[in-house]
Amino acid sequence: MTTEQTVPTYAPPAANDVGALSWLVGSMDAYRAMHQRSIDDPEGFWSDVASEFHWFEKWDTVVEWDLPDAKWFVGGKTNLCYNAVDRHVADGYSEQIAIIWEGEPYPDSGPEVRRITYRELQNETAKCANALKAMGVKKGDVVTIYMGMVPELAVACLACARIGAVHSVIFGGFSSSAIVDRVKDAKSKVIVTCDGSWRRGKVVPLKENVDEACQSLDGTPDAVEKVIVVKRCENDVAINGRDVWWHDAVGGASDDCPCVPLDSEAMSFLLYTSGSTGKPKGIVHTTGGYMVHTSYTSKLTFNMIPDGQQIYWCTADIGWITGHSYILYGILPNRVTSVMYEGGPDFPDASRFWDIVERHRVTQFYTAPTAIRAFMKWGNEHPAKHDLTTLQVLGTVGEPINPEAWKWYRKHIGRGVCPIVDTWWQTETGGHMLTPLPGATPTKPGSCTLPFPGIDAAVVDEQGNEVPNGEQGLLAIRKPWPSMLRGIFGDRERFVDTYWKRLPGMYFPGDGAVRDDDGYFWITGRVDDVINVSGHRLGTAEVESALVAHPAVVEAAVVGMPHEIKGTGIAAFVTLGPGHEPGEGLKNELRAHVGNDIGAIAKPDLIKFAAGLPKTRSGKIMRRLLRDIAAGKTEISQDVTTLEDLSVVAKLASSDES
Ligand code: WTA
Repeated sequence: MTTEQTVPTYAPPAANDVGALSWLVGSMDAYRAMHQRSIDDPEGFWSDVASEFHWFEKWDTVVEWDLPDAKWFVGGKTNLCYNAVDRHVADGYSEQIAIIWEGEPYPDSGPEVRRITYRELQNETAKCANALKAMGVKKGDVVTIYMGMVPELAVACLACARIGAVHSVIFGGFSSSAIVDRVKDAKSKVIVTCDGSWRRGKVVPLKENVDEACQSLDGTPDAVEKVIVVKRCENDVAINGRDVWWHDAVGGASDDCPCVPLDSEAMSFLLYTSGSTGKPKGIVHTTGGYMVHTSYTSKLTFNMIPDGQQIYWCTADIGWITGHSYILYGILPNRVTSVMYEGGPDFPDASRFWDIVERHRVTQFYTAPTAIRAFMKWGNEHPAKHDLTTLQVLGTVGEPINPEAWKWYRKHIGRGVCPIVDTWWQTETGGHMLTPLPGATPTKPGSCTLPFPGIDAAVVDEQGNEVPNGEQGLLAIRKPWPSMLRGIFGDRERFVDTYWKRLPGMYFPGDGAVRDDDGYFWITGRVDDVINVSGHRLGTAEVESALVAHPAVVEAAVVGMPHEIKGTGIAAFVTLGPGHEPGEGLKNELRAHVGNDIGAIAKPDLIKFAAGLPKTRSGKIMRRLLRDIAAGKTEISQDVTTLEDLSVVAKLASSDES
């Protein structure tokens, strides 16, 4: 750990120095005391936190833990939408801005901006909820949402929460076959979509993708019954029998639709994410615990103070967990303003984000390392052109951040003074788990520092014993936390196998980690067959099954490889069937094929054609070896004595077919 120990440590600045009113947690002593209490008395700790929310009925028991099943605030009744929206209206803040939305197109007159007050959000949400009810959506039914980043996306999610429907948001960059798989798995009968969405000046044909998906489900028991379509891009779309425009269905609905009191453990949403197999898994989240944890982490990690001055912007898409938790459900209950931006970071040019920060006077900014690396590449002159002095706290999420990007972020975006909160968490954890608190934790570039209060994290060996500081091990969470996943939809066995089998009595997130002598956590990346491409999770098996579905391909192995901007890129080793010739044309075809099958984020960055793949005698593909080859390592570190055909490696490594 010598390198980590010698890295500079950045002390948290005084609140004043970044223009913050105060720090909610202002010292390491305060943090340590909170954390200690949360471990000694988790029930008392979380009960105090939960008391800050509105409950229609108070819980009887804070937590019931019967590994691997946790229940939080058992017997309590609450509503996510009520706490995110209605409560603020009831408390007299109806005119405060809940969401500032900015569209991507940038005409000379400036981009389209909508400022939505809490009252307006309440009305729209109630209308949308009534429209869903009129279509037969009931408590517990799954509504699929496949939209661009428009305000109606937030409204649709909150409308589901309002009536206890479960939403399943599918990222708008996924293809129609991804919609088919998820709609089938969730048994969802209603889809909310847009005609199209803007991305870097082009229209992504969302409705067309939905049509394709619906057609392939027609005539099966999984057929979709209703599709609500938001008009956004005015692109040509077919309006079929099951389709209805949003402005008709929602526009014409009543705005009287009270929030339904829901069991704390009622399912709130499903979010599909990649795992080690070809099939994405529907992560199940619930209501009370998810609300409490995401809101409380938002509050402390981003130092949220509801003074009407804070403008928080998370650049993620609501199609990912970061958008669910840290654009909507964790942020709005804190009664701050959440910025939603529709489009690409470099449209119309590379300074768009900083232009947004300046015009909307953003105070907290949350993005991904991959974006930061792109900003670095685009040049310092872009942020330098803009006034970023309103920024108080900067956050990052999604993958380990390299210290160089961290330092750049602090210097060029944070004026060399804003604290950086490097937040480690997952779709499954629902909310932040390891993160600095901006006014308390001294930070080290590249480390997500220490556990959030309430989180009992450790680095352990395969037997579950803590490893000494400085030694690589597996990250483990030893105690339940409120926003933890409650299961994989319809697949109990996979839930138990994936998260609860490997380490005795603990949650296994799939990441490796090291702690340094200060106890700081350094995440070393995934230890399973999941890769983080631009901070987005993909299973190598998903990409492999897309590749082998192409008629030219007989076998494919996919591994991650270092990538300057994406962090991890995708390398595919492909064996072709007889009669198919390797070449640039076929590579492009395979990339397009994977793009159509999964989505553009899954397109391989590197394709190598191979006569055979390196395998052990028992037939297992030697992925470590492929990773070394993809990374261009000339010295192959892995022991290859079990390799079936040694010549394969030499051929692959020297292959000019990359
Ligand atoms: C990785 C995104 C290092 C990690 C919220 C995790 C990180 C996976 C960090 C979850 C971080 C996320 N430092 N690695 N700060 N944040 N990861 O489900 O490998 O899309 O398991 O959730 O991203 O990805 P997911």
